[in-house]
Amino acid sequence: MRSTQVAIIGAGPSGLLLSQLLSRHGIDSVVLECQSEDHVQSRIRAGLLEWTTVELAQEAGVGARMMREGLVHDGLDLAFANGRHRIDLKGLTGKSVLVYGQNELQRDLIEARSDEPGAVLWQVSDVAVHDVHTPAPRVGYRHEGRCHELRCDFVAGCDGYHGVSRAGLPQGSLAQYERTYPFGWLGLLADVPPLNPELVYASHARGFALCSMRSSRRSRYYLQCSLEDRVEQWSDGRFWDELRARLPEQHAARLVTGPSLEKSVVPLRSLVTEPMRFGQLFLVGDAAHIVPPTGAKGLNLAAADVRVLSRGLIEFYRSGSATLLAEYSARALGRVWKATRFSWWFTALLHRFSADPFAERLQAAELEYLARSAAASRSLAENYVGLAFDET
Ligand code: FAD
Ligand code: DHB
Repeated sequence: MRSTQVAIIGAGPSGLLLSQLLSRHGIDSVVLECQSEDHVQSRIRAGLLEWTTVELAQEAGVGARMMREGLVHDGLDLAFANGRHRIDLKGLTGKSVLVYGQNELQRDLIEARSDEPGAVLWQVSDVAVHDVHTPAPRVGYRHEGRCHELRCDFVAGCDGYHGVSRAGLPQGSLAQYERTYPFGWLGLLADVPPLNPELVYASHARGFALCSMRSSRRSRYYLQCSLEDRVEQWSDGRFWDELRARLPEQHAARLVTGPSLEKSVVPLRSLVTEPMRFGQLFLVGDAAHIVPPTGAKGLNLAAADVRVLSRGLIEFYRSGSATLLAEYSARALGRVWKATRFSWWFTALLHRFSADPFAERLQAAELEYLARSAAASRSLAENYVGLAFDET
C-alpha cells in the first residue's frame, strides 16, 4: 500500500499543474491517469491562455518555453456583415492573452513532472475513490496488471467531464446546472500561415467560424456544424470552401489552405456542479464544469481552480490552517459562473440557432452596438482576457 499527501486523479492540465505546484512547496502527490503519456501529450484542444494562467505556469516553473514560443495577442477581430471590427484588448483592459497550445503546456508539465519518478502513473484503470468523508481517504486502482490502494489526506478529482470523481458521488449530494446547444464545432489543424495576425471570430448567416492559430506557421480553424456531422463528411476541400464562405471578402481572399493534420467534432455544452468539495475530495477543472469553447475559458478555468486549491493546500501543510480549503468551492464557483455566463453570451452572440429572424436581428444589433460602444467593447475585453482574481 502506497501513501501520499494528495492523490490526484487525471493527468490533464489541471492534474499535472496542481501536482507540479504542490511539489514546489514540498507537498507529495501521486497522479493517476488512465491514458498513455503519448495520448495525453498529443490531444489537440485549447490554444489561448489568459495572463493569470501564464503566471501560474511560471509559478509552477514551466513558463520558460511558453514565454519564448507563445504569441502575445493584444486584440481580436469580430467579423460580421461582410466587415470587421477590432477589439483592442490591451487598450481597453491593459492586458493581453497568449496563444500557446494546450498540448504544448501538457508537454512542459509532463517533462517537469518526470523529474520525480513515480509521480505520475500512466495507463491505470478501475480508479475508485473511498472514504472521502473521513480524514483518511483511499483511492483504489489497477496498474500493470495488479490492484493497488493509495492512502492520502486529500483527493483532487482532475479527471475531466467523463471521469469517475464526480460520477462516483452519491445522487443527491450535488446539484448540476446544464445547457446543451443545438450545434457543435468542427476543428481543423493545418501547417499554413494564419489568416490574420490576431484571432477572427466570424458571425455569418451560414454559421459561426473562428480563425485561430498555434504559431506563425500553424493555424487552427473552427466551423459551427451540425451535431450529427462526422469528420468523414468533411473533406479538406469542403472545409476550406465553407470557411471562405463565412468570412468577409477581404479575409477570405487572404486564406491560405493546405492538407489537414487533424480534424475533430466537439459538441457544445455548459455544465456547473455545486459544490466543488465533498469532504476531502475536491473537484477541479472539467470534472466540475464545462463551458462551450467560444472565448476559450475551459482550460483557463481549470487553471484558476488549481490556483485556488493549491493555495489552500499549501496553507494547510505550512500552518495547519484549513481556512482557504474551506473557501475553495465558493471561491472557485464565483469565477466559474462568471466565465459560464461569458461563454454562453459569446456563443449566443456569434452562432446561428434555428431560423429565427427576430433573434438574428438582435444578434446583428448587438454586434453593431459592440462595434460602436467603448463600454460594450470593454465588457467583452475584460471577460475575454480574464477577470482579476479579486473581482471573482
Ligand atoms: P482534461 O483535460 O479532460 O483532463 C482529464 C484527465 O483525466 C484526462 O487526461 C483523462 O484521460 C483523465 N481521466 C479521465 N477519467 C479518468 C479515470 N477514470 N481515471 C484516471 N484518469 C482519468 N477549451 C478551450 O478553451 N478551447 C478549446 O478550443 C477547447 N477545445 C477542446 C476540445 C476537446 C476535444 C475537449 C475535450 C476540450 C476542449 N476544450 C477547449 C476544453 C479544455 O481543453 C478543457 O477545459 C481542459 O482540458 C480542462 O482540463 P482538465 O485537466 O480539467 O481536464
Ligand atoms: C481557440 C479556441 C477557442 O475556443 C477560442 O475562443 C480561441 C482559440 C483555439 O483552439 O485556438
